[in-house]
Amino acid sequence: MTGARDTTLCVNVDHVATLREARRAVYPQPLEAARLAEEAGAAGITIHLRADRRHVQESDLERLRDAVTGKLNLEISTEDEMVGIACRHRPDQVSLVPERPEEVTTEGGLDVIRHEARILRAAERLRREGIAVSVFVDPDRRQIERLAALSRDLVSGFEINTDAYTRRAVGSETGELAAVARAASDGAAAGLAVYAGHGLTVGNVRSVARLPEVEELNIGHSIVSRAVLVGMAQAVQEMLAAIGS
Ligand code: PXP
Repeated sequence: MTGARDTTLCVNVDHVATLREARRAVYPQPLEAARLAEEAGAAGITIHLRADRRHVQESDLERLRDAVTGKLNLEISTEDEMVGIACRHRPDQVSLVPERPEEVTTEGGLDVIRHEARILRAAERLRREGIAVSVFVDPDRRQIERLAALSRDLVSGFEINTDAYTRRAVGSETGELAAVARAASDGAAAGLAVYAGHGLTVGNVRSVARLPEVEELNIGHSIVSRAVLVGMAQAVQEMLAAIGS
């Protein structure tokens, strides 16, 4: 994606797998969605492998690792099992996120102050395999300060949680946008690569994309949702043709 500068887009294809898993079917495949997304200009593909495997599976990760030509970004918790899976499949980057089994989606950033030891333990293992490490954090000053104090050899970037910003109506999100902007500039000043995501849509993405420090956006739900609608006419026509009407 081309933003105000060269803000790139990583498309999160989790919810393609959500559709598949709703019927325990073999389609639609995140792999095919990833190919189409890259052909359309995405710089990379993101998936979140959850402990409950509610959408993407380890086999998706394996296939995507072979097929994705841009950046493959894997979101996982800091649990040893998940870090082990990441080390086996070696995505380009791992984004460490908090995970609660009951949540519908990631509910907030990873608390760097509370979980520093877990983050460092995971990052050490991942770095040994040559995997870049990013952490998903809320745009909170104390969180960014703590993140900035970590070794750049272990954690090279962070993703700002844009959820609070995206929950406000366009025009009334000044405070939340200012928090995102501040997190971006503080993080960049500390030498961290700055990414952002969660809840972004075509209606609210622009203000975040234009922040000069934000290099990359992770966007999933709104893109997959739109893809279902813009593809509906063709899918119906294909079915009618197959029926023979
Ligand atoms: N970034 C992180 C860390 C996430 O957990 C998610 C949701 O999986 C996203 C970005 C993408 O959010 P959305 O699906 O709302 O675009």
